[in-house]
Amino acid sequence: MRTLLVTGGAGFIGSNFIRYMLNKHSNIRIVNLDKLTYAGNLDNLRDIEKDDRYRFVKGDICDASIVDPLVKEVDIIVNFAAESHVDRSIGSPDDFIQTDVFGTFVLLEAARKYSIDRFVQISTDEVYGSTENGFFNETDTLNPSSPYAASKCGADRLVYSYYVTYKLPVVIPRSSNNFGPYQYPEKLISLFTTNAIEDKSLPIYGDGLNVRDWLYVVDNCEGVEAVMERGGDGEVYNLGAGNEKTNLEITGLILKDLGKPESLMTYVEDRLGHDRRYALDTSKIKTLDWAPRHTFEDAMAETVAWYRDNETWWKKIKSGEYLEYYRQQYKQSH
Ligand code: NAD
Ligand code: DAU
Repeated sequence: MRTLLVTGGAGFIGSNFIRYMLNKHSNIRIVNLDKLTYAGNLDNLRDIEKDDRYRFVKGDICDASIVDPLVKEVDIIVNFAAESHVDRSIGSPDDFIQTDVFGTFVLLEAARKYSIDRFVQISTDEVYGSTENGFFNETDTLNPSSPYAASKCGADRLVYSYYVTYKLPVVIPRSSNNFGPYQYPEKLISLFTTNAIEDKSLPIYGDGLNVRDWLYVVDNCEGVEAVMERGGDGEVYNLGAGNEKTNLEITGLILKDLGKPESLMTYVEDRLGHDRRYALDTSKIKTLDWAPRHTFEDAMAETVAWYRDNETWWKKIKSGEYLEYYRQQYKQSH
């Protein structure tokens, strides 16, 4: 029986990862350490909260007095905890530096102290920055653009330094844009789908031609597991599905799927420092015998259907703090 400490497990990808791991393996325990920021939501894990193999601890990864005793009792750390939204990092970078960089440092120190078997740092393709052509591989120069991407980049390299300096057995998956169920309705697909269901406008930044490589969250969870189980110590692995789409293409798909009019599309001021395109060379992760199992079309249809069928989940969120934030964003861009 192995025990995993999953940080940020009440968020979008972390909750999907916990569900995926508990459903797949009978012989694991998971401790979920989450601060429950605006993005953390215990509703994401209602179906497994009574599972004997699962334990939730509310706490901050920056707090060593909480982190240390937990790390002492686990074998592996999977660090999803982060401030994750680029727009918020532009308005208010402080929490990003604190959680994404300092929080990772606190976890690393505990991992070193208790000789953890594996430290999995969830990184992102945003650390490479933007490229109009070609595909980034794991040894390319890092050139992050936003305070979010820069703080993730700092954490990514800090984790690597613990491998080089202290021989801590770390691995670093760098994933592309995830989509799927339980994504906080502030990101492109979750926001636009829920807005369209409510016949609200879809705020398209700039010309809508920015490109992202979309990865279904379940495929990402499988990729993170592959890296955790079979990745080499100190190695970085790009995780992408090769589903390059412009924001306008994504918007069109959502509207078509929901039978909503194009008149909901609203062009707004561009995001500051908006990266044009992310694209990953994924040859290395293939050596770990991973490939996405879902087609983009099927995963998109399932995702849109999930938001259509789970209005209670996102309406609860949108009726609260988020609505105020969205109003402020909208005001700023007009
Ligand atoms: P999310 O914002 O949905 O969830 C983040 C979770 O971390 C929340 O539950 C939040 O409460 C928790 N958290 C924040 N600060 C904390 C702290 N100080 N201590 C403990 N918990 C804290 O994010 P997500 O989209 O699920 O992303 C998860 C991870 O994956 C992040 O590290 C992100 O950088 C990375 N990532 C995300 C994507 C994507 O497309 N969403 C792609 C690549 C990488
Ligand atoms: O690439 C991986 C990253 O993907 C993760 O590391 C981040 O945590 C995650 O938030 C995501 O970052 P992006 O900035 O790419 O995702 P977001 O959904 O915010 O935006 C996707 C694209 O859609 C981007 O070009 C901006 C645009 N957009 C977004 C929103 C929220 C809009 O046009 N309008 C919007 O309202």
